[in-house]
Amino acid sequence: MFLEVKHLTKSFGDTHVLKGIDFGLEKGQVLSIIGSSGSGKTTLLRCINALETADGGEIFVGGNKIFDAAEHFSAQNKKKSRNIVNFGFVFQSFNLFPQYTALENVTLAPALKAREICKRDRLPKAEYKRMLSEIEQKAIDLLGKVGLAEKRDAYPCQLSGGQQQRVSIARALALSPDVLCFDEPTSALDPEITGEVLKIIKELAAEDMTMIIVTHEMAFAKDVSDKIIFMDGGVISAEGTPDALFSQTENRRLHAFLSSFYRT
Ligand SMILES: Nc1ncnc2c1ncn2[C@@H]1O[C@H](COP(=O)(O)OP(=O)(O)O)[C@@H](O)[C@H]1O
Ligand SMILES: [Mg+2]
Repeated sequence: MFLEVKHLTKSFGDTHVLKGIDFGLEKGQVLSIIGSSGSGKTTLLRCINALETADGGEIFVGGNKIFDAAEHFSAQNKKKSRNIVNFGFVFQSFNLFPQYTALENVTLAPALKAREICKRDRLPKAEYKRMLSEIEQKAIDLLGKVGLAEKRDAYPCQLSGGQQQRVSIARALALSPDVLCFDEPTSALDPEITGEVLKIIKELAAEDMTMIIVTHEMAFAKDVSDKIIFMDGGVISAEGTPDALFSQTENRRLHAFLSSFYRT
């Protein structure tokens, strides 16, 4: 397995949000996570992305342990699990920096990383400049990839929701993540704009980008996923291929959840 999540737990005070999450994903696979509001989907993604620290469990990427709660909470290792960037994150509400252009939003993180590397390794200024121009070229290419080449100098407020979300996908790709995570990437968008974002995600899937997608778009999940996980009350209540999951009848919670989508 390329990504392995083992027995992840997380509580906020007395609320046990993740009660032991285990799953694996092969390189190039797409996993969708479905489940009703409050079932712990966002918390799971945030723990995987180190935006939140899990209380227990381990995460492996490519056979390397990138997170171990036991080590994390032993003081001397505190920094270790934080510094590795294996994951990209696309938020429900885009979270672009309003004061920066589309291009600057995409170059910002890699540029900061380049500056850190140059400082650490005492590289000459010319090398830093070379890295920056490479970063800019890559950002321009990525904006092209998401269909926004001509919007590079636009500010977020000058872009539609769908365009902002596409910039934020380019921004996440700029750091060449091993796994790209989406938290309800289209739920803040008008239905007619949803398609343009889903299309980009589908293209990434066709290029074998490894992805985890929390979504309420059932038809899309069925279409794009290699595997779907149904979360219920902080546990994985069901998992399988789209065909297996959507045709199952034994899991009553899943059945009720899925019926609620087709009733309306
Ligand atoms: N930072 C937080 N502090 C306290 N409770 C939280 C926090 N984040 C999430 N929760 C709680 O965890 C539960 C799961 O939330 P969440 O992971 O956002 O679920 P989902 O994304 O499936 O809707 C909810 O009961 C929510 O109120
Ligand atoms: Mg959520």
